[in-house]
Amino acid sequence: MRLRSTRLAALALSLLGSCTDPTANPALLVGSDGAVATLPDASSAGQPAEPPSYMPPAAPAITGAVCERGGDDLVRDLFCADSPLQIESLADLQHAMAIDPLRNEVDRNVVISGHTTALSARNVSAANPRVIFVQREHPGEGREMFAVAFVRGEQTVELVAHDRPSGELRFFLITYRQACNYAPAGCSPGDLLTLEAESGWREVTLLEEEDLKNSALDCRQCHQPDGPGTPKLLRMQERARPWTHWFDFTTDGGRALIADYIAMKGDEPLAGVTAARMQVAIAAPLVGLVSHESQEEQPNPFDSPRIETEVRASAPAQPFDNSIPGKSAAWRVAYEVAKRGAAIAVPYHDVKVTDPAKLAAATAAYRSYLAGEVTTDELADLRDIYPDDAMLQAEIGLTTEPGLDASGVLRQACLQCHNTRLDNAISRARFIADFSVLGREQRDRAIERLMLPPDDPRAMPPPHHRALTAEGRQRLIDALR
Ligand code: HEC
Ligand code: HEC
Repeated sequence: MRLRSTRLAALALSLLGSCTDPTANPALLVGSDGAVATLPDASSAGQPAEPPSYMPPAAPAITGAVCERGGDDLVRDLFCADSPLQIESLADLQHAMAIDPLRNEVDRNVVISGHTTALSARNVSAANPRVIFVQREHPGEGREMFAVAFVRGEQTVELVAHDRPSGELRFFLITYRQACNYAPAGCSPGDLLTLEAESGWREVTLLEEEDLKNSALDCRQCHQPDGPGTPKLLRMQERARPWTHWFDFTTDGGRALIADYIAMKGDEPLAGVTAARMQVAIAAPLVGLVSHESQEEQPNPFDSPRIETEVRASAPAQPFDNSIPGKSAAWRVAYEVAKRGAAIAVPYHDVKVTDPAKLAAATAAYRSYLAGEVTTDELADLRDIYPDDAMLQAEIGLTTEPGLDASGVLRQACLQCHNTRLDNAISRARFIADFSVLGREQRDRAIERLMLPPDDPRAMPPPHHRALTAEGRQRLIDALR
């Protein structure tokens, strides 16, 4: 997928408009009261295209809006100071936040994962891991809690910090553009997925959860899953040892992921984390942070010890060799909960989400790239690394399950964002993913959204989030007619 500069410019402009006039583009930016009355009819003629549902905007004025809204937290300290931060790379941000990527302490560390069901699900694997820098609160040493998550290819950095007066969690998103966004051909996979993605940042923009509440990037759908007024949480579904999907040199699965990563990337650093540092990665710092901040169990937790034991019993070469996918009854129970829309997607049952043949090909390709034999523009897309099998893709969380009836598709693909728990004051709440409550008008709107091409920002479900199988889409459209 190539990001076109024209579309990005249009999106940035439409969002800019909405900063001065909060009703101009209400679906993304509703006033902080979020009153429904301020929402024009989404279908009215002459409306600009609705806001980016999967692509984050970028524009300095948006940062200005966050600062004007006010608040007292670590992130505003950086972006809203009298002489605001000049950030042109991930290293600049790390420097400003006193993050040392090589630090290896109990309460200040980096954790790395080879699979996620968070925003960057479609990008993440051992070939393109997600890196999270965490810091625990330490008042004695003047340190505040934060977590900063980065994945190459997203052109975003996700952050969480405390609102100082209330102690509540506050979620932020930094977005940026690279030179390729302005080039006629757009960004190639190489521009997005190599070291190039970590510097040369432009139009660095700060948004916060309030700005994103009616977009597909809505942080609260997962970090405040019971809706407004309920506790916010940090997430880590695989919170019990062996922490399936997390790089950890003390577990078999962790070692398998680290080995796949090093085989491909050699000693290329990722977010400043060197290969040597990667080899002693552990998952515990995130476990510690999440437990410290959110005492409750995770909703629908992933029972790592049982699932890994069952997977190994069914496919003994796991986790190192995943040619034969594993089976786990404990995993199936959690998956069924998510499938009916009662929780966010469950991480995959196996440690590796990569297709072995695709991983081998991508490893060879990246090695040629590092050796200077292919250019950035010629590099194959490392994101095309998941198995082609539709059922496995559903189990990884990328698509809906093949063969589901229309009501099953509606639940698995839509309910996470369209349910009655979430903020009722935003336009998204007009569509509830439940056939028993859907009227004619909402059915028609849903059909219209389902028929849009995937690069249309109004397409549903937001393609970055979850794709429908062709048969699933048709079945849903037929049932909505
Ligand atoms: C990742 C979250 C997410 C998922 C999943 C999702 N949506 Fe949405 N949807 C949104 C957001 C955010 C909006 C509001 C912004 C917009 O209108 O594009 C929205 C708006 C809509 C609207 C317009 C509502 C109105 O009256 O203005 C319809 C219809 C819709 N979605 C249908 C669907 C269907 C059908 C699915 C599943 C096949 C789905 N959505 C899946 C986030 C999601
Ligand atoms: C679809 C669900 C989902 C959405 C939407 C989501 N997250 Fe998360 N987030 C997760 C999960 C799950 C994790 C745990 C780590 C992982 O699996 O990648 C996580 C982890 C994080 C972390 C690391 C600290 C922690 O909680 O473990 C940060 C920071 C974070 N998310 C920020 C954000 C921000 C900012 C947004 C909105 C722009 C956001 N997230 C939206 C699911 C989500």
